[in-house]
Amino acid sequence: MTHIETRYMHPEDPGAFREASRILQAGGLVAFPTETVYGLGGDALSPEAAAKIYAAKGRPSDNPLIVHIAEPGDINRIAREIPSAAQTLLHAFWPGPLTMILPKKDVVPDTTTGGLDTVAIRMPAHPTALRLIRESGILIAAPSANLSGRPSPTDASHVQEDLSGRIDMILDDGPVGIGIESTIIDLTGSKPAILRPGFITREMLEAMIGPVELDPTLIHPDPNIRPRAPGMKYTHYAPKGELTIIEDTAQPGIVTPMVSARIRKLASEALSRGRRVVVLTTAEHAELYPGLDILTLGDRGEGRTVAAHLYSALRKCDDLGAEIILSESFRRDEFGGAIMNRLLKAAGHRLISV
Ligand code: TXA
Ligand code: MG
Repeated sequence: MTHIETRYMHPEDPGAFREASRILQAGGLVAFPTETVYGLGGDALSPEAAAKIYAAKGRPSDNPLIVHIAEPGDINRIAREIPSAAQTLLHAFWPGPLTMILPKKDVVPDTTTGGLDTVAIRMPAHPTALRLIRESGILIAAPSANLSGRPSPTDASHVQEDLSGRIDMILDDGPVGIGIESTIIDLTGSKPAILRPGFITREMLEAMIGPVELDPTLIHPDPNIRPRAPGMKYTHYAPKGELTIIEDTAQPGIVTPMVSARIRKLASEALSRGRRVVVLTTAEHAELYPGLDILTLGDRGEGRTVAAHLYSALRKCDDLGAEIILSESFRRDEFGGAIMNRLLKAAGHRLISV
């Protein structure tokens, strides 16, 4: 890739939105914050802009992009059919961390949707994202603003690490709130189905529209079955070291004495082999690993804090040169299910039951 000068601005800098809008209108790329993770934005209706996004991320171009809108009514510009469930969900959860898959109109180029005849749409809740979409007048296609295969960026510094010199501008508005990507619901089939779990849980969706299925690959990951969200098949979020989750089968998601003892044992074995070891724990259990290098993901009692720290902790593991990473597990209930989905993917589904 040819090196391009990346401008770095804050939303409060004079002319920041004007400059970002000019870049988007000219077919360039701007990274911007959303409430979930930072996105790498380009004009969703321009095949060239979409191609630039894939190139900057080093991402396979069969992996479709989410189109970000700032007015719920803009859904009509890009979706061919809007079932009543979509109307109900947009009233309930937009702006917010919910992406809906709908049949696409012809204005949306195949490059944006990876050749699919459906389009992913979301109205983000972050004021900077909304202002950028409104001021530019552009419907913004945006994947997470990381290099393909790295954890999604939850702070502008992560975007800078991955994409500096590859994109036109980074709009730095500090750390994001949620920390894992939006829930994706597919409304094109006979039954609504979650393709990617997130902050908006199955329970929240079912309370609004009745039964919602889970993509089978979320329950039983099987390399022979293709997930319906093409991006879910790639090894995402993976730190460079070998990450393993340790779980008590009798009480999944609870850090029992057996769990912490096994983590300490595995850590000391790896250390005696001269390996660099990091333990991923939570505020409640940090003192269970004396003498070991730990990263505290947040507070178990407050699931949001765990999600908010997960990706930056995985990046930190790389910075620390961690070769062996041992993690506690989390309950798979409600939002915890989304956290475990990301952690299991990062671990390549390596889980030790004690
Ligand atoms: O929270 C988010 O959704 C963030 C922020 C920036 O909005 N975006 C994000 O985009 O996570 P990305 O590209 O990293 O993930 C989009 C996921 C991929 O797994 C992709 O395969 C799936 O959405 N996807 C996009 N369009 C689709 C479609 N038409 N059908 C099925 N899956 C689709
Ligand atoms: Mg991504």
